[in-house]
Parts: sequence; structure tokens; C-alpha cells
Amino acid sequence: MAEKQLEQTLVLIKPDALKNSITGFIFSQLSELHTGARFAATKIVNVSRLLAEEHYVEHKGKPFFEPLLDYIMGKAHYSEENKWKRRVIAIVYLGDGVLDRIRALAGPTNPHQAREERPGCIRSLGTVVPLKDKDGKNIGERLDNLIHTSATTEEAEREIKLWFVPHDIPPMMRVCPTEICPTHYYYKEGRLYDTYEPGSMLLLAPGDMVWKTDLEILRSCGTGECKKGRLNTVAAKYLINRVKV
Ligand code: RTP
Ligand code: MG
Repeated sequence: MAEKQLEQTLVLIKPDALKNSITGFIFSQLSELHTGARFAATKIVNVSRLLAEEHYVEHKGKPFFEPLLDYIMGKAHYSEENKWKRRVIAIVYLGDGVLDRIRALAGPTNPHQAREERPGCIRSLGTVVPLKDKDGKNIGERLDNLIHTSATTEEAEREIKLWFVPHDIPPMMRVCPTEICPTHYYYKEGRLYDTYEPGSMLLLAPGDMVWKTDLEILRSCGTGECKKGRLNTVAAKYLINRVKV
């Protein structure tokens, strides 16, 4: 299976790109002709707080963290009345050099910098929104930059496993090892159960194909060693599009 050696990356088309209908332009930029890479999976996601926090875990504690969560969850661009429109388009790409190629098409993180340095790149069409605290004091900026792309091989693996289950990706396009789940796993309010608990959600059933690393985490949770954060990295994905957020 030649694809085993191929690079993978996660792209997110963010809510501002959907709101401003820049999706056609972005997909054109991301075409297989332009990128030399292959579409391996795509999914429209109503982003939960759990998923947003996991995706941006490296920014936890920074002043722009909460506004960043509101942004990726679509709250910054769609009102409560229009909450059903809050979405992200998640895409897995596969190909040699795909990480750098897609990051080059996206451009610098800050849209102002993108316009200066790489006119025409995707993020040159973005916006910078000043952030103020409750007293009106400037506390930084929210960078509405239309698209996310993984930065490294490790980040791509972590992010793809966070947003996609193995069967979202055609078998010959899967890079990460999988395993068959031998048992039931239910989830409720940050806790894991092996039998049905009223109000819990079934995450996995015997016979389901899962990322090998997911199963390792769930097994460690079963023995009571699991820190809540670790369970969330797995649960967030299995709850995608199953509950209203
Ligand atoms: P991304 O992960 O979205 O592809 O962006 P990136 O690698 O270029 O930048 P990263 O440092 O990973 O930041 C993730 C997202 O957080 C927001 N951000 N805001 N106000 C700030 O100083 C700041 N820094 C980062 C941006 O929306 C960025 O895309
Ligand atoms: Mg990043």
C-alpha cells in the first residue's frame, strides 16, 4: 500500500469562509491539480466546545483562547438565531510534501501580514478583529484567517485522529494504524462506562474499527488512570454531529 509512506494533513475551512462564501475559491486553490495532493476525506462539522478546546489545546490560557473557540465554533460569525449555520468543512489530504504545499497556499497566520507578504494567498482575504475586555481595554486580536492547515507530521496525525474516525477515510488512504474494538464504550459527562448508563452516548461497540491510539487511551481510562483531558481527545470525535451544540 504505497499511501502508507505518504504525508497527510488536515484542512479546516472555517466559519468565516462559509459565511463569506469563499468556499469555491478555496476549493479551487485546493484542487488536486494545484496541490498535487489527493482528497482522502471530507466532513461538515458542527463544532462542539469539547472539539474546539481539543483542537486548539496549545493555545489554552492565552488571551485570545475564548474568542478563538467562539470563532471555530461559528459563534463569532452566526448569531444564536442562525446557529444551525455554524459549521466547519474538515478535509484530509494525502500526498508527498502536502503539509508545506497547503500551508503555502494558505499563507501567513495574520491576514494583514498575508496581504503584505503573499498577496493572493487564501488568508490574504481574511480579517483581523480587535479584542477588548469588559472595560474596553485592548487585549489583542482575533485572526479570522478562513482556513486551518496542519503545521507538522505530528500535528497532522493528532488532528486527523481528532476529527475523523478510520471509516471516514477510504481504507487504502489511511496512514495511521487501526484496530478492532472488542468491547462497548459509553460516555457521559467526562466519564467512561462499559455498560449503558442512563443518559450516556455509545462511543464504540465490539467490531468497530478505531485508531489504535484511541483504544490505548480508552483502555487506560478503564483502569482509572485516565485524566479527563485524555478521554476528551477521543470522545470529542465520536460525538461529532450527534448532539446539538
Ligand atoms: P492554523 O493552526 O489555524 O492553521 O494557524 P497557524 O498554524 O498559522 O497558527 P497557530 O499558531 O496554530 O494559531 C491557530 C489559530 O489561532 C489564532 N491565533 N490568534 N491573536 C493571536 O495572536 C493569534 N495567534 C493565533 C488564529 O486564528 C490561528 O489560525
Ligand atoms: Mg497551527
